[in-house]
Amino acid sequence: MKTVKNRPIGMFDSGVGGLSVLRVFLRKFPTEDVLYIGDTAHFPYGEKTPEEISAYGRHIAEYFKEVGIKLLVIACNTATVYSLDVVKEVMGDIPVIGVIEAGARAALEAVKGKKIGVIATKVTVKSGAYPAMIRSLGGGEKVLAVPTQRFVSLVEDGELDTDYARRVVREDLSPFYEDPPSGLILGCTHFPGLSHLIQEALPGVVLIDPAYALVDEAADVLAKSGLLREDGDGRVQFLVTGDPESFSHSGSVLLGRPITDARKLIL
Ligand code: DGL
Repeated sequence: MKTVKNRPIGMFDSGVGGLSVLRVFLRKFPTEDVLYIGDTAHFPYGEKTPEEISAYGRHIAEYFKEVGIKLLVIACNTATVYSLDVVKEVMGDIPVIGVIEAGARAALEAVKGKKIGVIATKVTVKSGAYPAMIRSLGGGEKVLAVPTQRFVSLVEDGELDTDYARRVVREDLSPFYEDPPSGLILGCTHFPGLSHLIQEALPGVVLIDPAYALVDEAADVLAKSGLLREDGDGRVQFLVTGDPESFSHSGSVLLGRPITDARKLIL
């Protein structure tokens, strides 16, 4: 039986998006083991119903609970909106953190008092979660949230630098052109994969990737509960509910290192 400190950290997303979080995470925690689930059988979450997304979260949490982890990071905005409560309920005393609050905090720090833009999946925008979180953190900033669901498939398919990708990014960001925000929250973990094209379309706008604030939050939670692992080489395991091969292909680019050992997970 592993001590709690030596258990892995669990992380999940609908696909490769969460790897943009994992990438930041591994730089900060090279000694931690991570168990990453890409729920590609149900991709894209952004076009599913709240009930479906909540059920996916529940099943993944039940799996993590069974194998034993010390912290669960929901590396997906959509899953955070629609399954954070149920995931917390399943995990019991294992801490769970989600990405929305981290993203809203990061935006308020980066562009306090100025106009904030949000791009996210269809259902994350529909939920109003980011504007509501910004208000609840005391921000009175004007927030414009725009769904850019097509970006999700571009990244999942590894289309990060094609003419088509550039055109889609330019088209779908058009609501921001007339009166650009000071900061733009990348409110979907797939989007950092397209940040070069997003920045090209919106020069001068500060892009806010919530991953950094989320990783700081993870560090706090682990330190406070005495669960940080000080030594050893961290191992990352990838489990995929769909096709491990296409996940590894697109995922390696987003993670910035090759993924060679993704395995199929049947939940
Ligand atoms: N990466 C996800 C997010 O942060 C979900 C994308 C999707 O599956 O639609 O919202």
